[in-house]
Amino acid sequence: MAVDILLGLQWGDEGKGKIVDFLSPKYQVVARFQGGPNAGHTLEFDGIKHVLHQIPSGIFHSNIKNIIGNGVVLAPIVFGREILSLEKYKIDFSKNLFISKKTQIIVPSHSLLDKAYEKSKGDNKIGSTLRGIGPAYQDKIARQGLRVGDIISGDFKARYEKLVASHKTILDFYKFDYNSPTSEKEYLVGLEKDFFDAIEFIKKFNIVDSEYMINDSVSKKETILAEGAQGSMLDIDFGSYPFVTSSNTMAAGACTGLGIAPAHVGNVFGIFKAYCTRVGGGPFPTEQLNEDGDTLRKEGNEFGSTTGRPRRCGWIDLPALKYAIMLNGVTEMLMMKADVLNGFKEIKVCTHYKMKDGKLTDMVPYDLCDENYEPVYKTLKGWNCSLAGISSYEGLPVELSDYISFLESQMNVPITLVSVGPDRTQTIISSKTILA
Ligand code: GDP
Ligand code: IMO
Ligand code: MG
Repeated sequence: MAVDILLGLQWGDEGKGKIVDFLSPKYQVVARFQGGPNAGHTLEFDGIKHVLHQIPSGIFHSNIKNIIGNGVVLAPIVFGREILSLEKYKIDFSKNLFISKKTQIIVPSHSLLDKAYEKSKGDNKIGSTLRGIGPAYQDKIARQGLRVGDIISGDFKARYEKLVASHKTILDFYKFDYNSPTSEKEYLVGLEKDFFDAIEFIKKFNIVDSEYMINDSVSKKETILAEGAQGSMLDIDFGSYPFVTSSNTMAAGACTGLGIAPAHVGNVFGIFKAYCTRVGGGPFPTEQLNEDGDTLRKEGNEFGSTTGRPRRCGWIDLPALKYAIMLNGVTEMLMMKADVLNGFKEIKVCTHYKMKDGKLTDMVPYDLCDENYEPVYKTLKGWNCSLAGISSYEGLPVELSDYISFLESQMNVPITLVSVGPDRTQTIISSKTILA
Protein backbone atom coordinates (compact mmCIF):
# COMPACT_ATOMS: atom_id res chain seq x y z
CA MET A 1 0.00 0.00 0.00
CA ALA A 2 1.27 3.47 -0.82
CA VAL A 3 2.18 6.01 1.83
CA ASP A 4 0.01 9.13 1.73
CA ILE A 5 1.47 12.43 2.85
CA LEU A 6 -0.35 15.32 4.43
CA LEU A 7 1.44 18.66 4.59
CA GLY A 8 0.91 22.40 4.90
CA LEU A 9 1.30 24.48 1.75
CA GLN A 10 1.68 27.91 3.33
CA TRP A 11 3.63 29.18 6.36
CA GLY A 12 2.35 26.57 8.81
CA ASP A 13 -0.72 26.35 11.07
CA GLU A 14 -2.98 25.46 8.15
CA GLY A 15 -4.92 22.96 10.29
CA LYS A 16 -2.83 19.81 9.81
CA GLY A 17 -3.62 18.46 13.28
CA LYS A 18 -7.37 18.66 12.70
CA ILE A 19 -7.18 16.86 9.37
CA VAL A 20 -4.75 14.14 10.42
CA ASP A 21 -7.13 13.40 13.27
CA PHE A 22 -10.10 13.49 10.86
CA LEU A 23 -8.42 11.14 8.38
CA SER A 24 -6.91 8.83 11.01
CA PRO A 25 -9.70 6.22 10.94
CA LYS A 26 -8.64 5.47 7.35
CA TYR A 27 -5.06 4.74 8.35
CA GLN A 28 -3.24 2.12 10.39
CA VAL A 29 -0.05 4.11 10.81
CA VAL A 30 0.45 7.87 11.31
CA ALA A 31 4.07 9.08 11.26
CA ARG A 32 5.62 12.50 11.85
CA PHE A 33 8.59 13.01 9.54
CA GLN A 34 10.22 16.31 10.49
CA GLY A 35 10.17 19.32 12.80
CA GLY A 36 9.84 19.05 16.55
CA PRO A 37 8.37 21.08 19.38
CA ASN A 38 8.17 24.16 17.14
CA ALA A 39 4.97 22.58 15.81
CA GLY A 40 1.59 22.98 17.48
CA HIS A 41 -1.13 20.79 15.97
CA THR A 42 -4.62 21.39 17.35
CA LEU A 43 -7.30 18.70 17.51
CA GLU A 44 -10.89 19.30 18.57
CA PHE A 45 -13.51 16.59 19.06
CA ASP A 46 -16.14 15.55 21.61
CA GLY A 47 -15.65 18.84 23.48
CA ILE A 48 -11.90 18.20 23.83
CA LYS A 49 -9.32 20.65 22.51
CA HIS A 50 -5.77 19.39 22.52
CA VAL A 51 -2.50 20.71 21.08
CA LEU A 52 0.20 18.21 20.11
CA HIS A 53 3.79 19.25 19.47
CA GLN A 54 5.83 16.15 18.74
CA ILE A 55 3.41 13.29 19.11
CA PRO A 56 1.61 12.37 15.86
CA SER A 57 -2.00 13.49 15.54
CA GLY A 58 -3.35 9.93 15.27
CA ILE A 59 -2.68 9.37 18.97
CA PHE A 60 -6.34 9.56 20.01
CA HIS A 61 -7.18 6.48 17.94
CA SER A 62 -6.21 3.38 19.90
CA ASN A 63 -5.78 1.13 16.86
CA ILE A 64 -3.26 3.38 15.10
CA LYS A 65 0.50 3.04 15.32
CA ASN A 66 1.90 6.54 15.79
CA ILE A 67 5.54 6.91 14.86
CA ILE A 68 7.92 9.76 15.65
CA GLY A 69 10.22 9.43 12.65
CA ASN A 70 13.97 9.75 12.25
CA GLY A 71 13.53 13.16 10.59
CA VAL A 72 12.10 14.67 13.78
CA VAL A 73 14.13 16.53 16.41
CA LEU A 74 12.71 15.53 19.77
CA ALA A 75 12.85 17.61 22.95
CA PRO A 76 12.68 15.09 25.83
CA ILE A 77 11.35 17.57 28.41
CA VAL A 78 8.54 18.67 26.09
CA PHE A 79 7.84 15.01 25.31
CA GLY A 80 7.44 14.27 29.03
CA ARG A 81 4.99 17.16 29.38
CA GLU A 82 3.03 16.06 26.32
CA ILE A 83 2.65 12.54 27.69
CA LEU A 84 1.51 13.97 31.03
CA SER A 85 -1.09 16.15 29.35
CA LEU A 86 -2.47 13.04 27.59
CA GLU A 87 -2.67 11.01 30.80
CA LYS A 88 -6.37 11.70 31.35
CA TYR A 89 -7.27 10.07 28.02
CA LYS A 90 -5.96 6.67 29.17
CA ILE A 91 -4.05 6.06 25.97
CA ASP A 92 -2.07 2.81 25.88
CA PHE A 93 1.24 4.20 24.61
CA SER A 94 2.82 0.76 24.73
CA LYS A 95 0.54 -0.19 21.84
CA ASN A 96 0.31 2.98 19.82
CA LEU A 97 3.41 5.16 20.17
CA PHE A 98 6.83 4.42 18.68
CA ILE A 99 9.96 6.54 18.54
CA SER A 100 12.66 6.04 15.95
CA LYS A 101 16.11 5.20 17.27
CA LYS A 102 17.41 7.65 14.69
CA THR A 103 15.33 10.62 15.93
CA GLN A 104 17.70 13.42 16.92
CA ILE A 105 17.57 14.74 20.48
CA ILE A 106 17.23 18.42 21.35
CA VAL A 107 19.37 19.14 24.41
CA PRO A 108 18.71 22.20 26.62
CA SER A 109 21.70 24.10 25.26
CA HIS A 110 20.17 23.89 21.74
CA SER A 111 17.41 26.22 22.95
CA LEU A 112 19.97 28.56 24.49
CA LEU A 113 21.85 28.63 21.18
CA ASP A 114 18.58 29.47 19.42
CA LYS A 115 18.21 32.46 21.77
CA ALA A 116 21.81 33.54 21.30
CA TYR A 117 21.56 33.37 17.48
CA GLU A 118 18.28 35.25 17.44
CA LYS A 119 19.63 37.96 19.75
CA SER A 120 22.66 38.42 17.53
CA LYS A 121 20.43 38.95 14.48
CA GLY A 122 18.73 42.00 16.02
CA ASP A 123 15.96 43.33 13.77
CA ASN A 124 16.58 40.55 11.27
CA LYS A 125 15.73 37.78 13.69
CA ILE A 126 13.85 34.81 12.26
CA GLY A 127 11.19 34.87 14.95
CA SER A 128 12.09 31.30 15.89
CA THR A 129 9.97 29.48 18.44
CA LEU A 130 13.27 29.16 20.39
CA ARG A 131 12.73 25.45 20.91
CA GLY A 132 16.25 24.59 19.73
CA ILE A 133 15.18 23.33 16.32
CA GLY A 134 17.84 25.03 14.15
CA PRO A 135 20.79 24.19 16.45
CA ALA A 136 19.64 20.55 16.79
CA TYR A 137 19.46 20.13 12.99
CA GLN A 138 22.82 21.91 12.77
CA ASP A 139 24.38 19.24 14.99
CA LYS A 140 22.67 16.49 13.00
CA ILE A 141 24.23 17.79 9.77
CA ALA A 142 27.56 18.34 11.53
CA ARG A 143 27.42 14.64 12.47
CA GLN A 144 27.65 15.27 16.17
CA GLY A 145 24.03 15.05 17.26
CA LEU A 146 22.68 12.65 19.87
CA ARG A 147 19.96 10.23 18.82
CA VAL A 148 17.23 8.50 20.78
CA GLY A 149 18.94 5.15 20.14
CA ASP A 150 21.99 6.45 22.00
CA ILE A 151 20.27 6.93 25.34
CA ILE A 152 20.78 3.35 26.42
CA SER A 153 24.48 3.40 25.66
CA GLY A 154 26.94 3.64 28.56
CA ASP A 155 28.69 6.70 27.20
CA PHE A 156 25.55 8.80 26.61
CA LYS A 157 26.35 11.21 29.43
CA ALA A 158 29.93 11.65 28.22
CA ARG A 159 28.76 12.32 24.68
CA TYR A 160 26.19 14.76 26.01
CA GLU A 161 28.87 16.62 27.93
CA LYS A 162 31.15 16.80 24.91
CA LEU A 163 28.31 18.26 22.85
CA VAL A 164 27.37 20.79 25.52
CA ALA A 165 31.02 21.82 25.88
CA SER A 166 31.03 22.67 22.17
CA HIS A 167 27.81 24.64 22.65
CA LYS A 168 29.32 26.59 25.53
CA THR A 169 32.17 27.83 23.35
CA ILE A 170 29.58 29.19 20.91
CA LEU A 171 27.49 30.69 23.72
CA ASP A 172 30.67 32.32 25.07
CA PHE A 173 31.36 33.77 21.63
CA TYR A 174 27.90 35.33 21.66
CA LYS A 175 28.45 36.47 25.27
CA PHE A 176 25.36 34.52 26.29
CA ASP A 177 25.59 34.00 30.02
CA TYR A 178 24.22 30.52 30.68
CA ASN A 179 25.41 30.46 34.30
CA SER A 180 23.71 33.48 35.83
CA PRO A 181 20.16 33.17 34.74
CA THR A 182 17.78 36.00 34.02
CA SER A 183 15.10 33.41 34.41
CA GLU A 184 15.33 29.92 35.77
CA LYS A 185 14.60 28.53 32.34
CA GLU A 186 17.85 29.84 30.93
CA TYR A 187 19.91 28.22 33.62
CA LEU A 188 21.60 25.33 31.91
CA VAL A 189 22.34 23.28 34.99
CA GLY A 190 18.74 23.62 36.16
CA LEU A 191 17.53 22.37 32.80
CA GLU A 192 19.94 19.48 32.77
CA LYS A 193 18.28 17.73 35.69
CA ASP A 194 14.89 17.87 33.95
CA PHE A 195 16.55 16.71 30.75
CA PHE A 196 18.09 13.59 32.28
CA ASP A 197 14.86 12.79 34.12
CA ALA A 198 13.08 13.04 30.78
CA ILE A 199 15.67 10.79 29.13
CA GLU A 200 14.97 8.15 31.79
CA PHE A 201 11.24 8.59 31.11
CA ILE A 202 11.69 8.08 27.36
CA LYS A 203 13.35 4.72 28.01
CA LYS A 204 9.90 3.36 29.00
CA PHE A 205 8.57 3.89 25.47
CA ASN A 206 8.89 1.80 22.31
CA ILE A 207 12.18 2.81 20.73
CA VAL A 208 12.30 1.16 17.34
CA ASP A 209 14.05 0.84 14.00
CA SER A 210 11.22 2.85 12.50
CA GLU A 211 12.41 2.55 8.91
CA TYR A 212 12.02 -1.25 9.16
CA MET A 213 8.70 -0.87 10.94
CA ILE A 214 7.28 1.42 8.26
CA ASN A 215 8.57 -0.67 5.38
CA ASP A 216 7.14 -3.75 7.04
CA SER A 217 3.78 -1.93 7.13
CA VAL A 218 4.21 -1.06 3.44
CA SER A 219 4.84 -4.73 2.62
CA LYS A 220 1.80 -5.80 4.63
CA LYS A 221 -0.26 -3.28 2.65
CA GLU A 222 -1.16 -1.32 5.76
CA THR A 223 -2.42 2.22 5.23
CA ILE A 224 0.12 4.86 6.24
CA LEU A 225 -0.20 8.62 6.58
CA ALA A 226 2.91 10.79 6.90
CA GLU A 227 2.15 13.95 8.91
CA GLY A 228 4.09 17.07 8.02
CA ALA A 229 4.86 19.97 10.32
CA GLN A 230 5.26 23.66 9.41
CA GLY A 231 4.53 24.44 5.75
CA SER A 232 6.16 24.54 2.33
CA MET A 233 7.01 28.25 2.54
CA LEU A 234 9.03 27.45 5.67
CA ASP A 235 11.02 24.71 3.91
CA ILE A 236 14.78 25.00 4.37
CA ASP A 237 15.44 24.76 0.61
CA PHE A 238 12.40 26.33 -1.03
CA GLY A 239 10.83 28.53 1.64
CA SER A 240 11.35 32.24 2.20
CA TYR A 241 15.00 31.72 3.14
CA PRO A 242 16.49 32.64 5.58
CA PHE A 243 13.12 33.11 7.30
CA VAL A 244 12.38 29.40 7.37
CA THR A 245 12.63 26.45 9.68
CA SER A 246 15.58 24.04 9.50
CA SER A 247 14.02 20.98 7.91
CA ASN A 248 12.51 19.83 4.61
CA THR A 249 8.82 20.33 5.17
CA MET A 250 7.98 19.03 1.71
CA ALA A 251 6.82 15.63 0.42
CA ALA A 252 10.45 14.71 -0.26
CA GLY A 253 11.10 15.21 3.47
CA ALA A 254 8.69 12.37 4.21
CA CYS A 255 10.95 9.98 2.25
CA THR A 256 14.12 10.89 4.13
CA GLY A 257 12.32 11.60 7.41
CA LEU A 258 10.79 8.13 7.57
CA GLY A 259 12.87 5.97 5.24
CA ILE A 260 10.22 5.56 2.55
CA ALA A 261 11.30 5.05 -1.06
CA PRO A 262 9.75 7.67 -3.40
CA ALA A 263 8.02 4.91 -5.36
CA HIS A 264 5.91 4.14 -2.27
CA VAL A 265 4.41 7.62 -2.09
CA GLY A 266 0.71 7.68 -2.94
CA ASN A 267 -1.53 10.68 -2.43
CA VAL A 268 -0.16 14.01 -1.32
CA PHE A 269 -2.77 16.02 0.55
CA GLY A 270 -1.95 19.73 0.54
CA ILE A 271 -3.61 21.78 3.26
CA PHE A 272 -4.15 25.51 2.92
CA LYS A 273 -6.18 28.15 4.66
CA ALA A 274 -8.84 29.98 2.61
CA TYR A 275 -6.66 33.01 3.38
CA CYS A 276 -3.08 33.07 4.64
CA THR A 277 -1.14 33.52 7.88
CA ARG A 278 2.44 33.61 9.05
CA VAL A 279 3.94 33.77 12.52
CA GLY A 280 7.43 35.11 13.15
CA GLY A 281 9.57 37.32 10.91
CA GLY A 282 10.16 37.32 7.17
CA PRO A 283 8.41 38.28 3.97
CA PHE A 284 4.67 37.83 3.60
CA PRO A 285 3.61 39.39 0.28
CA THR A 286 -0.15 39.34 0.86
CA GLU A 287 -0.09 40.45 4.50
CA GLN A 288 -2.89 42.88 5.35
CA LEU A 289 -1.75 45.37 7.95
CA ASN A 290 -5.23 46.84 8.09
CA GLU A 291 -8.78 46.15 9.17
CA ASP A 292 -9.03 43.06 6.93
CA GLY A 293 -5.95 41.56 8.59
CA ASP A 294 -7.35 42.35 12.03
CA THR A 295 -10.69 40.76 11.16
CA LEU A 296 -8.98 37.59 9.88
CA ARG A 297 -6.97 37.38 13.12
CA LYS A 298 -10.05 37.88 15.28
CA GLU A 299 -12.40 35.57 13.36
CA GLY A 300 -9.72 32.93 12.84
CA ASN A 301 -8.43 33.18 16.41
CA GLU A 302 -5.00 33.48 14.84
CA PHE A 303 -2.69 33.16 17.79
CA GLY A 304 0.17 30.63 17.79
CA SER A 305 -0.62 27.16 19.15
CA THR A 306 2.95 26.83 20.48
CA THR A 307 3.99 30.34 21.47
CA GLY A 308 0.67 32.23 21.69
CA ARG A 309 2.07 34.94 19.41
CA PRO A 310 -0.45 36.80 17.22
CA ARG A 311 -0.26 35.47 13.67
CA ARG A 312 0.17 37.86 10.76
CA CYS A 313 -2.83 37.62 8.42
CA GLY A 314 -3.48 38.27 4.75
CA TRP A 315 -5.12 37.07 1.55
CA ILE A 316 -4.43 33.84 -0.25
CA ASP A 317 -1.29 33.87 -2.37
CA LEU A 318 -1.65 31.81 -5.56
CA PRO A 319 1.94 32.11 -6.84
CA ALA A 320 3.15 30.71 -3.50
CA LEU A 321 0.48 27.98 -3.50
CA LYS A 322 1.23 26.95 -7.09
CA TYR A 323 4.90 26.75 -6.16
CA ALA A 324 4.12 24.48 -3.21
CA ILE A 325 1.82 22.29 -5.35
CA MET A 326 4.57 21.89 -7.94
CA LEU A 327 7.27 21.02 -5.43
CA ASN A 328 5.14 18.56 -3.47
CA GLY A 329 3.24 16.86 -6.30
CA VAL A 330 -0.03 17.61 -4.51
CA THR A 331 -2.87 15.33 -5.63
CA GLU A 332 -5.71 16.81 -3.54
CA MET A 333 -6.13 20.21 -1.91
CA LEU A 334 -7.89 20.59 1.42
CA MET A 335 -9.21 24.08 2.19
CA MET A 336 -9.27 25.08 5.85
CA LYS A 337 -11.03 27.77 7.83
CA ALA A 338 -13.50 28.81 5.11
CA ASP A 339 -15.83 29.95 7.93
CA VAL A 340 -13.37 32.69 8.90
CA LEU A 341 -14.29 34.50 5.66
CA ASN A 342 -18.05 34.39 6.42
CA GLY A 343 -18.26 38.09 7.27
CA PHE A 344 -16.44 39.41 4.18
CA LYS A 345 -18.48 40.95 1.38
CA GLU A 346 -15.45 40.68 -0.89
CA ILE A 347 -12.52 38.28 -0.87
CA LYS A 348 -9.21 38.99 -2.50
CA VAL A 349 -6.92 36.49 -4.19
CA CYS A 350 -3.35 37.34 -5.15
CA THR A 351 -3.01 35.90 -8.66
CA HIS A 352 0.36 37.37 -9.67
CA TYR A 353 3.24 39.49 -8.53
CA LYS A 354 4.02 42.68 -10.45
CA MET A 355 7.78 43.04 -10.79
CA LYS A 356 9.64 46.34 -10.83
CA ASP A 357 9.78 46.32 -14.69
CA GLY A 358 5.97 46.19 -14.68
CA LYS A 359 5.81 42.55 -15.84
CA LEU A 360 3.41 40.15 -14.17
CA THR A 361 4.58 36.77 -12.98
CA ASP A 362 3.00 33.89 -11.14
CA MET A 363 6.39 32.56 -10.11
CA VAL A 364 7.82 33.08 -6.65
CA PRO A 365 10.83 35.43 -6.89
CA TYR A 366 14.27 34.15 -5.82
CA ASP A 367 14.35 36.59 -2.95
CA LEU A 368 10.95 37.07 -1.38
CA CYS A 369 12.56 39.61 0.95
CA ASP A 370 13.17 41.84 -2.08
CA GLU A 371 10.63 44.66 -1.91
CA ASN A 372 10.60 45.29 -5.64
CA TYR A 373 7.42 43.41 -6.39
CA GLU A 374 3.84 43.82 -5.39
CA PRO A 375 0.94 41.40 -5.27
CA VAL A 376 -1.82 41.77 -7.88
CA TYR A 377 -5.28 40.88 -6.62
CA LYS A 378 -8.50 39.64 -8.15
CA THR A 379 -11.61 40.39 -6.11
CA LEU A 380 -14.32 37.77 -5.71
CA LYS A 381 -17.72 38.07 -4.11
CA GLY A 382 -17.92 36.80 -0.52
CA TRP A 383 -20.75 34.52 0.62
CA ASN A 384 -21.37 36.71 3.63
CA CYS A 385 -23.38 34.16 5.57
CA SER A 386 -22.86 31.43 8.13
CA LEU A 387 -21.73 27.98 7.00
CA ALA A 388 -23.10 26.30 10.13
CA GLY A 389 -25.06 23.14 9.49
CA ILE A 390 -23.82 22.62 5.91
CA SER A 391 -22.71 19.05 5.40
CA SER A 392 -22.22 18.64 1.66
CA TYR A 393 -20.52 20.43 -1.21
CA GLU A 394 -23.93 20.80 -2.84
CA GLY A 395 -25.10 22.81 0.18
CA LEU A 396 -22.30 25.38 0.01
CA PRO A 397 -23.32 28.95 -0.86
CA VAL A 398 -22.81 29.68 -4.56
CA GLU A 399 -20.12 32.31 -3.86
CA LEU A 400 -18.07 29.77 -1.90
CA SER A 401 -18.48 27.22 -4.71
CA ASP A 402 -17.31 29.92 -7.13
CA TYR A 403 -14.31 30.69 -4.89
CA ILE A 404 -13.40 26.98 -4.87
CA SER A 405 -13.87 26.66 -8.65
CA PHE A 406 -11.72 29.73 -9.26
CA LEU A 407 -8.90 28.39 -7.08
CA GLU A 408 -9.14 24.96 -8.72
CA SER A 409 -8.96 26.51 -12.18
CA GLN A 410 -5.79 28.34 -11.17
CA MET A 411 -4.10 25.50 -9.35
CA ASN A 412 -5.22 22.56 -11.50
CA VAL A 413 -5.71 20.35 -8.46
CA PRO A 414 -9.15 19.51 -7.02
CA ILE A 415 -10.15 20.94 -3.65
CA THR A 416 -11.72 17.89 -2.09
CA LEU A 417 -12.29 18.98 1.49
CA VAL A 418 -13.59 22.18 3.01
CA SER A 419 -13.21 22.77 6.72
CA VAL A 420 -15.78 25.09 8.28
CA GLY A 421 -14.84 25.02 11.95
CA PRO A 422 -12.20 23.61 14.32
CA ASP A 423 -14.18 20.53 15.35
CA ARG A 424 -13.67 17.14 13.71
CA THR A 425 -17.32 17.19 12.61
CA GLN A 426 -17.07 20.58 10.90
CA THR A 427 -15.57 19.04 7.79
CA ILE A 428 -17.17 18.71 4.36
CA ILE A 429 -15.77 16.33 1.79
CA SER A 430 -16.41 16.26 -1.92
CA SER A 431 -17.37 13.15 -3.83
CA LYS A 432 -14.24 13.68 -5.97
CA THR A 433 -11.92 12.64 -3.16
CA ILE A 434 -10.29 9.28 -2.59
CA LEU A 435 -11.21 9.95 1.04
CA ALA A 436 -14.93 9.48 0.40
P1 GDP B 1 -1.53 23.06 12.41
O1 GDP B 1 -0.24 23.50 13.01
O2 GDP B 1 -1.48 23.03 10.92
O3 GDP B 1 -2.03 21.76 12.96
O4 GDP B 1 -2.59 24.16 12.79
P2 GDP B 1 -2.79 24.85 14.24
O5 GDP B 1 -3.42 23.88 15.14
O6 GDP B 1 -1.53 25.49 14.70
O7 GDP B 1 -3.74 26.05 13.87
C1 GDP B 1 -4.98 25.85 13.27
C2 GDP B 1 -6.04 26.51 14.19
O8 GDP B 1 -7.24 26.63 13.46
C3 GDP B 1 -6.36 25.65 15.39
O9 GDP B 1 -6.72 26.50 16.45
C4 GDP B 1 -7.57 24.84 14.94
O10 GDP B 1 -8.41 24.43 16.00
C5 GDP B 1 -8.26 25.86 14.08
N1 GDP B 1 -9.03 25.33 12.94
C6 GDP B 1 -8.76 24.25 12.16
N2 GDP B 1 -9.67 24.16 11.16
C7 GDP B 1 -10.52 25.18 11.32
C8 GDP B 1 -11.66 25.65 10.58
O11 GDP B 1 -12.04 25.10 9.56
N3 GDP B 1 -12.26 26.77 11.04
C9 GDP B 1 -11.84 27.44 12.16
N4 GDP B 1 -12.50 28.52 12.52
N5 GDP B 1 -10.79 27.02 12.88
C10 GDP B 1 -10.13 25.93 12.45
P1 IMO C 1 3.09 23.92 12.67
O1 IMO C 1 3.55 22.50 12.49
C1 IMO C 1 3.91 28.14 12.03
C2 IMO C 1 8.09 29.41 12.21
C3 IMO C 1 8.52 30.27 13.37
C4 IMO C 1 9.66 31.04 12.71
C5 IMO C 1 10.29 30.00 11.80
C6 IMO C 1 11.49 29.30 12.39
O2 IMO C 1 2.29 24.13 13.90
O3 IMO C 1 2.44 24.43 11.44
P2 IMO C 1 11.89 27.54 14.34
O4 IMO C 1 11.31 27.43 15.71
O5 IMO C 1 11.63 26.39 13.47
O6 IMO C 1 13.33 27.94 14.38
O7 IMO C 1 11.15 28.82 13.68
O8 IMO C 1 9.28 29.05 11.52
N1 IMO C 1 7.43 28.13 12.61
C7 IMO C 1 6.13 27.90 12.48
N2 IMO C 1 5.13 28.70 12.06
N3 IMO C 1 3.66 26.87 12.35
C8 IMO C 1 4.65 26.05 12.74
O9 IMO C 1 4.46 24.73 12.95
C9 IMO C 1 5.95 26.56 12.86
N4 IMO C 1 7.14 26.06 13.24
C10 IMO C 1 8.05 27.03 13.08
O10 IMO C 1 7.48 31.11 13.80
O11 IMO C 1 9.13 32.07 11.91
MG1 MG D 1 0.47 24.92 14.35
